[in-house]
Amino acid sequence: MPSAVAVQETAASTRAGAGAVSLTEVGRAFASPTGTREVLQGVDIRIAPGEILSVIGPSGCGKSTLLRLIAGLDAPSTGSIAVDGTSISDTDERTAVAFQEPRLLPWRTLAQNVELGLPRETQRSGAGRRAGRERVRELLHLVGLDHAADQRPREVSGGMAQRASLARALARNPDVLLLDEPFGALDALTRLRMQDLLLDIHAAQPTTIVLVTHDVEEALYLGDRVLLLRSLHAPAVDAPAAEVRARVLALGSGAGIGASGAALPAAVERHLAPPAPAASAGSIARVVTVPGTRPRDRADRTLADLRATLLEGLGVPTHHHQLASKENR
Ligand SMILES: Nc1ncnc2c1ncn2[C@@H]1O[C@H](COP(=O)(O)OP(=O)(O)OP(=O)(O)O)[C@@H](O)[C@H]1O
Ligand SMILES: [Mg+2]
Repeated sequence: MPSAVAVQETAASTRAGAGAVSLTEVGRAFASPTGTREVLQGVDIRIAPGEILSVIGPSGCGKSTLLRLIAGLDAPSTGSIAVDGTSISDTDERTAVAFQEPRLLPWRTLAQNVELGLPRETQRSGAGRRAGRERVRELLHLVGLDHAADQRPREVSGGMAQRASLARALARNPDVLLLDEPFGALDALTRLRMQDLLLDIHAAQPTTIVLVTHDVEEALYLGDRVLLLRSLHAPAVDAPAAEVRARVLALGSGAGIGASGAALPAAVERHLAPPAPAASAGSIARVVTVPGTRPRDRADRTLADLRATLLEGLGVPTHHHQLASKENR
């Protein structure tokens, strides 16, 4: 993988100060058999040019929906979204998206796939095409794929395919890069490397990044801020916990605890109960500013504390605070 210095040399310049994203009271509801179903509500946040905003939240809370809205692939039901003060459209070339699956065309080489991300005018004219080829070469170098330019997606590893996907998203030199769990399908080590690659790219080409991730550590390692979304439909998300609860009750009924409908011991209940939803609040549960500057120390204590807080915000008990206070004794 290229060093930050190599990345610096090959990166194209981004428009300085561009890429401010503002979401004003954004909501999205979908038609459902039982009426409309609200997925996002009252999402109000300003993202600064060059900022990395991590977005986390339980499955189904609307993270991908939010990203699609910012990309202009979907329109909000209420509120508005603007990049640098103007509203976005579905053909907006100021934004680019990469997903968990690389979504490369299997019959094209990696270079040809990256080429597809170039702005349309670059793909058409003769001079533009030459510049385009040069840009593709630079991008492949940026993501450490010089040697694999002529390989096809099925001939390369998952991490390599994902790097090609990232290069394709960067090809149009976007002001705002939208990433939906981009490293979610990769093994743990490749994932850590991809995180550092993303930071190298960002240092060289500081676009605004909105990164949806399931990984709280990743959110804190990469983000300037972490946006924690809540589910407006907590019971559906908590279905597995409800199942566990039912099984514990069934087991306990023979031993004299928790006949159907009765309370479980508090210690068990604590692990199963979802966090109580605030009655009137919207989708944003919390916005956390991550202290310190990147690259961050993965073993930092403050980050570990924040990680525990965010996990608890996601309804995952960590015992971290108990452990920390024991250690301090
Ligand atoms: N086009 C659509 N029509 C109807 N419902 C939709 C549509 N798109 C998304 N939804 C619903 O919106 C909710 C949020 O979906 P979304 O994909 O944004 O969740 P997510 O937070 O990205 O989840 P995950 O972490 O599992 O990827 C889901 O209940 C989903 O079924
Ligand atoms: Mg999603």
